[in-house]
Amino acid sequence: MRLDLPRWFDLHTHFRQGSGTAHYIADHLAMGCAGVLAMPNTRPPVSRISGPTTEQAWSIESYRAQLLNAGADAFEQLIVPLYLTHDTDADMITRGVSSGLLRAAKYYPPHGTTNSEHGVPMTEWIGSDVLRAMEDLGVILCIHGEQHGLRGPDYFDRNQTAESLFYTETMPRLVEKHPTLKIVCEHITTASAATFVRSAFDHVAATITPQHLMFTIGHLVQGLRYHLYCLPLVKFDADRSELREAVLSARQSKFFAGTDSAPHTDKLTECACAAGCYTGGCAPQLYASAFEQAGADLSTATGQDAFSRFLCTNGPAFYGFPASEKRFALRREPSHPLPFSVEGKEVVPLPHGLGFDLDWSITIDD
Ligand code: DOR
Ligand code: ZN
Repeated sequence: MRLDLPRWFDLHTHFRQGSGTAHYIADHLAMGCAGVLAMPNTRPPVSRISGPTTEQAWSIESYRAQLLNAGADAFEQLIVPLYLTHDTDADMITRGVSSGLLRAAKYYPPHGTTNSEHGVPMTEWIGSDVLRAMEDLGVILCIHGEQHGLRGPDYFDRNQTAESLFYTETMPRLVEKHPTLKIVCEHITTASAATFVRSAFDHVAATITPQHLMFTIGHLVQGLRYHLYCLPLVKFDADRSELREAVLSARQSKFFAGTDSAPHTDKLTECACAAGCYTGGCAPQLYASAFEQAGADLSTATGQDAFSRFLCTNGPAFYGFPASEKRFALRREPSHPLPFSVEGKEVVPLPHGLGFDLDWSITIDD
């Protein structure tokens, strides 16, 4: 079987900084990716609009320039959101929009995930001039939706997780105060988040990663397969079912691809594990398998329509840019992405880390 598709968009990925960036970008191009939103949780963070890089911050302008230099000029779209920190003010939003550099801003829960220590709690943003300016000027708010600072039993339990708490308690307050703010709920993992997004206004959407459509917490803890450790954590089967239903629902326009591909050169530390799954080079193959596991028949028009909406067209429509006119194809033929070295350390793609082969391969005809 062969699926011919428009080139797709990854509206949530991590290209980092330094010598690995060119490899990560090349992996994205090699999987038929036409454009990306490259996350700002770099070191230092992307927390200014323009100007040179300093010890404290990249600017969107300077970070984009380093990505373009490392091969990202081949993308049709390159969005870098502004990291919302204590330094962000409404004037920065206005200037950012007039300069054409600011299209989105990212909320990180303080200390909730990789390089998120510059984040400011959502309760401080709700009702702020910054979010009002974003709302007025159409800047998209990308949200890492997990309640931060919780103790173990509140962080992850059968009936409640940091994410479900965020979507049942915090998000309703956010959308009530900012009813016209465009929001992308990033890498959602729970039934609570999926339900919130489905019942919210049309200008509230979500990205979903391949791993959250494919795996559950059982896959992670059985053998402690740490390559599957990312944040938010993979969840329960009932959560995965809701995510699958969301992406397969007829003519849906709210859910789209955002891999959260997150390379780590030091995945295991002495007493912890860095959060993030690297899916550069293999994300469409994983998404195709995930859709099939969810019950989609990709040989039919209905299955292909659902897949293409999710991977190729819903994201551009939400962000307000055209879908790609170029094409790529998925062939049902096994492949196996291999680890590679960055600065003498290994980055391990998710399928290799979990010891399985991909069912699909990519063809790009120029
Ligand atoms: O698993 C994750 N990895 N989740 C995030 O929110 C950040 C990302 C990273 O940057 O490594
Ligand atoms: Zn991310």
